Amino acid sequence: MANLFPRWTNELPLKAVVCVAALGGIVSGLVAYTATPKYTRVGYMPEQPIPFDHSLHAQQLGMDCRYCHSFVEQSAHSNLPADQVCWNCHGPGKVKPDSPKLQALREAMDESSDDYTGRPVAWVQIHETPDYAYFNHSAHVNRGVSCVECHGQVNEMKVVYHAKSLSMSFCLDCHRNSEKVLRPLDQITNLDWKAEDVDKDAFYAYLADKTGKGAEDLKKADSHKTFDRLLIGGHLKEAWNVHPPQDCTACHR
Ligand code: HEC
Ligand code: HEC
Ligand code: HEC
Ligand code: HEC
Ligand code: HEC
Repeated sequence: MANLFPRWTNELPLKAVVCVAALGGIVSGLVAYTATPKYTRVGYMPEQPIPFDHSLHAQQLGMDCRYCHSFVEQSAHSNLPADQVCWNCHGPGKVKPDSPKLQALREAMDESSDDYTGRPVAWVQIHETPDYAYFNHSAHVNRGVSCVECHGQVNEMKVVYHAKSLSMSFCLDCHRNSEKVLRPLDQITNLDWKAEDVDKDAFYAYLADKTGKGAEDLKKADSHKTFDRLLIGGHLKEAWNVHPPQDCTACHR
């Protein structure tokens, strides 16, 4: 189950393929080909060593994604939490320290237990880009792209699964239409964010600050338009000068 890709995909002399494809004009065919279900992992939901529930921790308890995925804004890779983070709450004398569900955590952390091995909890990775494609989290989350666009409604998941395809055409669709998804930076980990939540005056004041235009003028120019996601995203795209790359070498280096 772990390996849904044939091994050869990692050994593909991709630079050669990319050059030939670009010259030969077979690109659109390739894009269609990579979008077929065979090349997506949608629905993949491996069993984890601990039945960790995002809907409980992130939604009910209100913990921010960055509490655990703490490097997602700084680094290309989004880390999983160290076992110590769980242990801070689930250690001796704290929340459900004896729960059978936390057995693997005690094996990793509880030196006083007979079961102690010191081996870190072995989470099974769900989302994975092949080696020949380059992806960077910080480049996205610092540019107004929320976790929900690529991972779905994780805050409602009892068990995390692969919700979106993350195929090449999925990447490119957004790169061509990023105004549809961009949102204010402080709402990246609010997976339930909606355009209606935005304070209009504050938004236009922010735009004025970024663009050097007058807030009232910007607002007046929009007066006949609906204040929706597309309008917000379009403005942010312009204010931040967002240009997601579409050339092959941006993602295949
Ligand atoms: C209390 C810690 C904690 C919080 C808070 C948390 N996560 Fe997680 N997350 C984990 C752990 C542990 C795993 C690995 C086990 C699993 O998949 O359930 C994980 C797995 C994931 C995965 C799948 C990783 C993979 O292997 O592909 C995604 C995506 C994810 N989290 C996104 C989020 C988002 C988005 C939020 C905020 C809404 C969030 N997480 C909040 C601890 C946390
Ligand atoms: C900020 C504190 C906090 C952190 C950090 C935290 N949890 Fe929890 N966890 C809780 C609370 C509160 C509950 C609900 C307990 C209850 O139902 O009474 C809970 C429940 C659980 C349960 C269900 C236990 C049962 O028997 O029902 C599991 C499993 C669990 N957490 C795993 C983890 C893992 C794994 C991590 C680290 C990735 C983690 N938790 C991090 C506070 C935390
Ligand atoms: C533009 C798409 C996109 C966005 C936005 C995004 N991710 Fe990811 N995420 C990915 C891809 C692609 C992977 C697989 C990456 C890899 O193989 O390195 C991934 C992998 C992960 C993993 C697994 C890392 C591992 O090695 O187990 C976690 C956890 C994660 N993302 C959390 C988040 C969180 C939290 C956010 C929001 C703050 C977020 N992601 C935003 C696309 C995205
Ligand atoms: C939901 C929208 C969205 C999706 C999906 C998305 N991207 Fe992006 N991507 C962006 C935006 C926005 C930027 C920022 C462009 C800028 O800063 O001008 C970006 C920038 C990039 C960059 C240039 C910055 C850097 O890291 O060097 C690369 C490469 C990239 N994306 C790769 C990918 C790959 C690979 C995928 C699919 C796994 C993907 N993207 C999926 C929106 C998206
Ligand atoms: C925005 C990022 C991005 C751009 C731009 C991009 N690709 Fe890709 N490409 C990917 C990702 C991500 C995958 C892996 C998808 C998957 O996991 O199935 C991929 C996969 C591929 C594959 C392997 C397909 C297979 O059968 O598995 C080829 C060949 C390829 N790309 C060629 C190209 C060519 C040619 C271009 C230029 C027209 C291009 N790519 C532009 C992100 C990109």
